[in-house]
Amino acid sequence: MPIDQYAVVGHPVAHSLSPQIHQQFAAQTKQTLDYGKIEAPVDGFVAVVDQFRADGGCGLNVTVPFKAQAWRYVDRLDELATSAQAVNTLSFRDGDCLGFNTDGLGLLADLKVRHQQTIGGSKVLILGAGGATQGVLGPLLSEQPASVSIVNRTVSKAADLVAAWRRNFAGKCVLKALAYADVDEKADIVINATSMGLANQTVPLDPVWIEGAFCYDMSYGANAKFMSWARQRGAKAAVDGLGMLVEQAAAAFNIWRGIMPQTDDVYARLSQQFHQ
Ligand code: ATR
Repeated sequence: MPIDQYAVVGHPVAHSLSPQIHQQFAAQTKQTLDYGKIEAPVDGFVAVVDQFRADGGCGLNVTVPFKAQAWRYVDRLDELATSAQAVNTLSFRDGDCLGFNTDGLGLLADLKVRHQQTIGGSKVLILGAGGATQGVLGPLLSEQPASVSIVNRTVSKAADLVAAWRRNFAGKCVLKALAYADVDEKADIVINATSMGLANQTVPLDPVWIEGAFCYDMSYGANAKFMSWARQRGAKAAVDGLGMLVEQAAAAFNIWRGIMPQTDDVYARLSQQFHQ
């Protein structure tokens, strides 16, 4: 029997931790599988996925910049991927391609279980209104926070997200779109979903709004600039998105293999690597 093949596809993908994470899950749950990395050319996502399927591959994780293309590629979507308009997990079953989005579940598991945060009733401030925000907004709103303010340089993008989600959550949660200069209250939980850590940029938020807040940076490693910024400016605590990475991977593994791996050991090992 050939070994079941999985991979992460992205551009760039060289530094992806997904192979390391999934191989540890496979060892822990005694599953026999291979998990690799595929660097697709920016205009070559569909060709790469078609080839992987033709070669008998079982599933793919999809990362930047292909999540929206993956959403368009699939035959069927689960509910979270439908609302996120982005897919991070593909599963090839009986000739069909199924699309899932485990990013929101990953964020919630990390925030609620690992970091012991209560989202229900809290004031949440999200920095950024791109794909990363869209991917997690549905699961976050389902926790019934008191308010969610989406702050973005390009306010119209935040306003579009608010308009799209307000229909479902009207009356349950105050949803606002803001420019950085218009933020006017302290949040309980601040989530960085911008890509600003990738370049050498400064956080455009007045630090007074994060004083005493729990700050979460969806980036990790050298890109977790918001985490370092928040730690130096009065946040109650500031963590990076390494735990979210592990949790979204666990949810993908469960979709493929029907078994939910334990995440604490894998997280602890990565933590040693990244949090000295
Ligand atoms: P992703 O899929 O990672 O969310 P994206 O869709 O390109 O990527 O969105 C990037 C987000 O980071 C956007 O909200 C972007 O703000 P704009 O929409 O105003 O461009 C935000 N972003 C990127 N660099 C930033 C910076 N230096 N300061 C503040 N926000 C930044």
